[in-house]
Amino acid sequence: MPSFDEILEKQSFTKEDLKLLLAAEGEEMSKLFDKALKTKLKYLDNYVHLRGLIEYSNRCAKYCLYCGVRGKNTKVERYTLSDEEVLECAHLAHKLGYGSVAIQSGERDDKEFVDKIEYLVKEIKKIDNGSLGITLSLGEQTEETYRRWFDAGAHRYLLRIEASDEDLYYKIHPKDKKHDFRKRLECIDSLLHLGYQTGTGVMVGLPFQTLDNLADDLMFFKRKDVAMVGMGPFIPHPDTPLYEYKDQIPSAKDRMNLTLKMIAVLRLMMPEINMVAATANQTVDPLGREKAIMVGANVIMPNLTPNEFRENYLIYPDKACVKDKPDQCQTCLDLRMESIGHKVLYNAWGDSKEFTNKKSDR
Ligand code: 5AD
Ligand code: FES
Repeated sequence: MPSFDEILEKQSFTKEDLKLLLAAEGEEMSKLFDKALKTKLKYLDNYVHLRGLIEYSNRCAKYCLYCGVRGKNTKVERYTLSDEEVLECAHLAHKLGYGSVAIQSGERDDKEFVDKIEYLVKEIKKIDNGSLGITLSLGEQTEETYRRWFDAGAHRYLLRIEASDEDLYYKIHPKDKKHDFRKRLECIDSLLHLGYQTGTGVMVGLPFQTLDNLADDLMFFKRKDVAMVGMGPFIPHPDTPLYEYKDQIPSAKDRMNLTLKMIAVLRLMMPEINMVAATANQTVDPLGREKAIMVGANVIMPNLTPNEFRENYLIYPDKACVKDKPDQCQTCLDLRMESIGHKVLYNAWGDSKEFTNKKSDR
C-alpha cells in the first residue's frame, strides 16, 4: 500500500486515496494543508476575490431539514428587500471596489419573483457600464428561468448539491416532490449547459455523513467539472428538524478540520477552481475563514445586506458579521488577509480560472 506521502504526490486520486487523505490527522494533516496552499499559490497567487453578498429575501417555499429559514419555521420574521435596497447594496459594492455581487435568497419560482430578479440583474448591470459581476444563488429553477437571468447579465450561479449521495440527500431533505434529488442534479446540468460559471458544494459534518460520502462529493465536483465550490461546516439550528441529531455529529473542531481537509484535497484535485471560505467557517472558529484561505480557498463573501434584515437571515445560528457595517467588514477583511500573507483583489470580477481556460479551449 502506498504511504501517505506517496498518495499526496499522486496526480489523480482513487476513492480510497481520498478517504485516506480526509482521515489525515496531526503531521499528515499539516502536510496536506501545506501542499494545498502551495498548489493554490502556484496556480492562483495570493489573491482573494470578494463577492458582496445581498440576502434578498428569506421567504422560502422549501423545508430543508437543516436550514433556519425553511418555510415551516414560524419564528422567522419574513422580509424581501425593496428594489432600492438591492440597488443601494450593489452601488455600495461598486463603491467599496468589490467587483462582484452575489444575490442569495430563499427559494421561490413564481412569476413575480422570476421577473423581479431579471429586472434587478439588468439594473445592476447598468451600474458603471456593467462593471459588477453578478452571481446568483436562488435555488432550483426551470432552464428557461436560468436562461432569462443569464441573458439579463448574471454569469455565475451557485447551487450546492448539499449531499451528492441520494440516500444522504433524503436524510437532510424531506422526500417529496419539492425536494427532488434528481431535479437538483438536472438544475446543475442546466446551469453548466447554459454557460454559467457553475458552483456547487456540500455541508461538512452532517448527521449520517461518512468519509465515503465526502470522498464521493469530491469526485462529483470533479466529474461535473464545476468552476466553483463552496463547503462549510454544518451548524445545527435549534428551530430545524436536524437539531435533534446535534449530539451525533463531530465536534465543532472536528467539523472545522474536516471542512479544511475537504478544501485542501479539492484544491489538489482542481487547482484552478474558485473556492469560497464560507462564513460558516467563522461561526465555528473565529479564524475559520483565514484557515480556509490558508488551505486553498480564494473567495470571501462579505455581507452587504442592510443590518436591520440580517438577524432574519440566520440559516444557522451565530452567523458571523451580523452586526458589522459593510465598511467595517472591508477594513477588517483587508487586515485579516494581510495577516496571512494574502491580498484582496479589488475592482475585478475574479472569474474562475478553471472556467476561463476551458472556454478558451473551445
Ligand atoms: N449549517 C451550515 N450551513 C448551512 N446551510 C444551510 N443551512 C445550514 C446549516 N444549518 C448552507 C447550505 C446552503 C447555503 C446557503 O448555506 O449549504 O446551500
Ligand atoms: Fe465582517 Fe470581519 S468581515 S467584521
